[in-house]
Amino acid sequence: MCGIVGYIGNNDSKEILLKGLEKLEYRGYDSAGIALRNERGIHVFKEKGRIADLRGIVDEDVMANIGIGHTRWATHGVPSKVNSHPHQSTSGRFTLVHNGVIENYDLLKREFLTDVTFVSETDTEVIVQMIELFVQEGLEVLEAFRKTLTLLHGSYALALLDAQDDETIYVAKNKSPLLVGLGDDFNVVASDAMAMIQVTNQYLELMDKEIVIVKKNDVTIQNLNGDIISRVPFTAELDASDIEKGTYPHYMLKEIDEQPLVMRKIIQTYQNEQGELTINPEIISAMNESDRVYIIAAGTSYHAGLVGKQFIEGIAKLPVEVHIASEFVYNMPLLTEKPLFIFISQSGETADSRAVLVKVKEMGYRTLTITNVPGSTLSREAEYTLLLHAGPEIAVASSKAYTAQLAVLAILAEVTAKSQNIRVDFDLVHELGIIANAMEVLCDSKELFEHISREFLSVTRNAFFIGRGVDYYVCLEGALKLKEISYIQAEGFAGGELKHGTIALIEEGTPIIALATQESVNLSIRGNVKEVVARGANPCIISMKGLNMDEDSFVIPEVHELLTPLISVIPMQLIAYYAALHRDCDVDKPRNLAKSVTVE
Ligand code: F6R
Repeated sequence: MCGIVGYIGNNDSKEILLKGLEKLEYRGYDSAGIALRNERGIHVFKEKGRIADLRGIVDEDVMANIGIGHTRWATHGVPSKVNSHPHQSTSGRFTLVHNGVIENYDLLKREFLTDVTFVSETDTEVIVQMIELFVQEGLEVLEAFRKTLTLLHGSYALALLDAQDDETIYVAKNKSPLLVGLGDDFNVVASDAMAMIQVTNQYLELMDKEIVIVKKNDVTIQNLNGDIISRVPFTAELDASDIEKGTYPHYMLKEIDEQPLVMRKIIQTYQNEQGELTINPEIISAMNESDRVYIIAAGTSYHAGLVGKQFIEGIAKLPVEVHIASEFVYNMPLLTEKPLFIFISQSGETADSRAVLVKVKEMGYRTLTITNVPGSTLSREAEYTLLLHAGPEIAVASSKAYTAQLAVLAILAEVTAKSQNIRVDFDLVHELGIIANAMEVLCDSKELFEHISREFLSVTRNAFFIGRGVDYYVCLEGALKLKEISYIQAEGFAGGELKHGTIALIEEGTPIIALATQESVNLSIRGNVKEVVARGANPCIISMKGLNMDEDSFVIPEVHELLTPLISVIPMQLIAYYAALHRDCDVDKPRNLAKSVTVE
């Protein structure tokens, strides 16, 4: 949450920063700002709203070779011009952008800054005022920065400008992501390589509690004791075109359409030369040595975990529990003797999941992260990582990462089963190939889903998604997709559970989207549909070929029954997409949300 950029070099930094912020908008988009430093001092431009709004107020005539920028997802203080970053110290000498949360900011205010008049409600202003205070007390800027950092409790990625220094951006990080990008006669700072990929693909990864002194031709990393740390840069494997919308009106639609391609990429990546699926043997040993898998995740990734449980238990015969990260961290269940923790996270940065990771590592348990982002915090900090290979997912609502998570979980289950000589009665490579083809058929049926969305959701305030077994888990995801981007109140329910209370909400015309892809519950879910229809509901049944009946609104192609969530979710994604479009909602950047949830 919140995105940071910085540039120091020979060119005008304005456009580089603004373009970078546009790429980071997925991290927060309620306000934005930049600070440009030139021979006349530091010029701050900030505005409530999107980067487009910020562009409107930036003075084109201000040229500066050094600058920092920020796009915000509000935590302390409402989204407003005054609360947006950059923040400045009272004298105006120091200017700071911050991503993260300082837990003890109020305490620091009372202990050190009683004489300071604050202009914003943010925790960030405390940091910049402390740096100024320590400089006024006689410390060098670097020492004042370091001393301030040692007093902060919480998470931060910071970039600091000093009006009296035209050669340096001071940078630091703890728990929030931050990279330094290396160029020829320039260097950059970014929360995500995506922001600066147009200027460099060489990056230095930063570790927690490191300070970086970034100059035009030099980058020095230190720890909080001042020891110099050497680090080899990595090449960001990002294609600039991966992060463009191309001809698509929205990233979400592009990402939905990319799912067949991602599926094929996953099959290819996880296959060896003999065509067998393969996974790092150490991960498979960790699976085999564990007596229970605990999947920890949030939101869509949690929903993927629920399906993953079916895969791992069904294929590898290993018991699995799935937990919401933010609950697990404070309310841990009794654990078995040899648990293996699997963290599922598209971004690899989710603070709730990280809090669990830190805790279970302290307890000495084994950990695996399944993520889309190599080098992300959860990936770095877990013992093992499996990558999704889905390519950057930019729309806030997750689509291709979900299906990629399911595919990787299925592969993990299959390889574990085979390592134990557990019979798997289908060929997963072949079945995933069928899935990729079926995905294509669904993506080619957009008009139908547009029509379904118009027919069932155009005027409603609420909607219910019902299913049984694994369909229920897909319904949870379908409901989340619909509510987060169209703001229609939507709930996913186990079909049989409706009559235990929720059926009271059914009125004339209430839309019910029912999934019927499982033979064993096909008749019972249809029975549940009849119960709500008898009370006036408007049913939209999506079934799988072979189980379909005359009244169904859409029939998805037949795939292996265990793997149906990989394709039954696509109608849900498209229905939600069109519902949002019909309501004129901002599909890619829904209100109040951010792509990467880096605060607990
Ligand atoms: C919804 C969505 C979120 C994320 C959740 C966890 O479309 O994307 O619910 O799934 O915030 O994020 P990650 O997967 O990055 O840990």
